[in-house]
Amino acid sequence: MIEVENLGKKYGNNFAVRNLNFSVKKGEILGFLGPNGAGKTTTMRILTCYLPATEGSARVAGFDVFKEGLQVRKRIGYLPENSPLYREMSVTSFLDFITRIKGVPRRKRKDRIASVLDRCKIDEVKNRLIQHLSKGYRQRVGLAAALIHDPEVLILDEPTIGLDPKQIIEIRELIKSLAGDHTVILSTHILPEVTQTCQRVVIINEGKVVAEDTFEKLQERLRKAERLSVRVKRDSSIVPQKLASIGGVVSVAPIDAAPGGYIVESTLGADVREEVARIVAQENWGLLEMKPMVMSLEDVFLKLTTEEEGIPSNQES
Ligand SMILES: Nc1ncnc2c1ncn2[C@@H]1O[C@H](COP(=O)(O)OP(=O)(O)OP(=O)(O)O)[C@@H](O)[C@H]1O
Ligand SMILES: [Mg+2]
Repeated sequence: MIEVENLGKKYGNNFAVRNLNFSVKKGEILGFLGPNGAGKTTTMRILTCYLPATEGSARVAGFDVFKEGLQVRKRIGYLPENSPLYREMSVTSFLDFITRIKGVPRRKRKDRIASVLDRCKIDEVKNRLIQHLSKGYRQRVGLAAALIHDPEVLILDEPTIGLDPKQIIEIRELIKSLAGDHTVILSTHILPEVTQTCQRVVIINEGKVVAEDTFEKLQERLRKAERLSVRVKRDSSIVPQKLASIGGVVSVAPIDAAPGGYIVESTLGADVREEVARIVAQENWGLLEMKPMVMSLEDVFLKLTTEEEGIPSNQES
């Protein structure tokens, strides 16, 4: 549905993004991640025809964003970083205005407005002026405007920024409900949002794609060892020694903040839990806790955006 090939954008002498390649399948929700200044907004503005690229190509629903902008715009709903709402308009008159801009046929306008008011849960504020709405509600109006012409593709630039936790959950649910019928690219800084909402992620750093995969696959590929956190009640110098002698264990490191706590690292694929439990019981150390340590998306993100080596390819793992 969306295909980006060798896309590059130069501001002055500097490339904001360069050699970008990724694709989004129909009905998919793609998380678009990257640190500040990575080029997320720039990419999204190119895809929505607001900004010409310097090099490369991009297609949305089969149409070229540079040569067939009109066709692309018809099929795209865009929620920009700072939604340009007409503050002095009421919600309904603003949405009506957008239906005209987007070329929604006259006979369909009323239905479309009613549908997005309902879907974005802003029916109760429909007659209020936009400037009198809270930030969260203004964000919803922006989303309603993006959805008004029932576009196939939605490009959402940090849709939950500045919202309270309850509203974040509601907007997330709304975005999730769009999957299937709509194809969505969503940029965010809130990493748990991605694991909860998106099927796949593209991570960019300094204008380049550093990873494109499902979160689980990224986790797998970055994992170089198994890590287990173990905590015992009766600690002594014998504990780390004995744990280290278990077959497959590579290292045992104490956890400073937790007395009796250790991180037991073992070779990839080795499951030492049974043996750890057996020894702890046999020595009567008193097992308080034992849990595998998984890489969070934060870990994955930091690893990919701060380390130089990048991600190992599928073949190597
Ligand atoms: N109009 C502009 N003129 C010159 N440089 C720009 C312009 N817009 C963006 N840039 C630069 O391009 C790079 C990418 O910016 P962009 O806004 O796309 O990043 P982003 O990933 O959206 O960041 P954030 O997470 O802060 O929103 C940055 O280095 C930025 O300074
Ligand atoms: Mg941005």
